[in-house]
Amino acid sequence: MEVADLPIHKKQYKEVSFANDVLTDLKEWRSSFILYKYALDEINTKLRILNEDFQHAHAHNPIEHIKSRVKEPESIIKKLQRKGLEITPEAAREHIHDIAGVRITCSFLSDIYHIHQMLQEQDDIRVLKVKDYIQHPKPNGYKSLHLIVEIPVFLPSRTERVKVEVQIRTVAMDFWASVEHKIYYKYDQAVPSHLKQELKETAELVHYLDHKMVNLKKDVEQLSHLTKEGVS
Ligand code: GTP
Ligand code: MG
Repeated sequence: MEVADLPIHKKQYKEVSFANDVLTDLKEWRSSFILYKYALDEINTKLRILNEDFQHAHAHNPIEHIKSRVKEPESIIKKLQRKGLEITPEAAREHIHDIAGVRITCSFLSDIYHIHQMLQEQDDIRVLKVKDYIQHPKPNGYKSLHLIVEIPVFLPSRTERVKVEVQIRTVAMDFWASVEHKIYYKYDQAVPSHLKQELKETAELVHYLDHKMVNLKKDVEQLSHLTKEGVS
C-alpha cells in the first residue's frame, strides 16, 4: 500500500500568482491548510489499519493503493472565484470540500463498498455526503464512489473537525479516469465527439471487466471453500 502525501508546509505558496490584496494574510491560509495535512495523516493511518485488519479476517487486501493530496492554494482560490465566493480561508473551509483529498484504488468492485462500510462504522468519522458514480455514472462514463467525510484532528489546545474528499474506485476505473483526464486537458475541455464516443465505449469495457473480475473472485472463493470442506 502506497501513501503519497504532499508536504504542504514545505512547497505550497511559492506559485501563487494572485494580487497581494487577495492573499491578505498568507499566514492565516497556511495555518488553516496545515489542518488538512494532519487530517490526511489520520485518515491514511486509519485506512492502513482497516486494510490490515480486513486482510486478517478475509485473507484479502481491499486496498491496492492510496494517494492523497492537499489542494494547491492557487486552485482553491480559483475555485472560490469560480463559485463567486469570498476569497478567504474561512470561505474555503466552509465551501470547498476537496481541499484534502484521498484516492483509494481497489482490485474489486466489492472492495469499494467494503471500504465505504468500514469508514461509515468508524466512531470518529462522519460521512457527510455520498455520490455514487458507480450506480449512477457521469454522462461521459466516469465511475467512482465519492464521499465527503469529516475527521477530528486533535491539536494541543483544541479539536478541529476537518472535511476530506474520499474517492474510491477500482484499478480499471482509475485507469479510465486518468486517460480521460489527460484527453480533457489536451483538448482544453473541447474533446472531439469521436473521442467522447470512444471514451464511453471504453467505460463500458471497464464496467464489463469489473463485473467479470468480481465473478471470478467469487468462483475462486467458492472453490477454495469447497476444497476446505472436502479436506475436513
Ligand atoms: P468539483 O467542483 O470539481 O470538485 O466537482 P464536484 O464538487 O461536483 O464533485 P464531483 O464529485 O463531481 O467531482 C470531484 C472530483 O472527482 C474531481 O475533482 C475529479 O477528481 C473527479 N472527477 C469527477 N468527474 C470526473 C470526470 O468526468 N473525469 C475524471 N477523470 N475525474 C472526474
Ligand atoms: Mg474537485
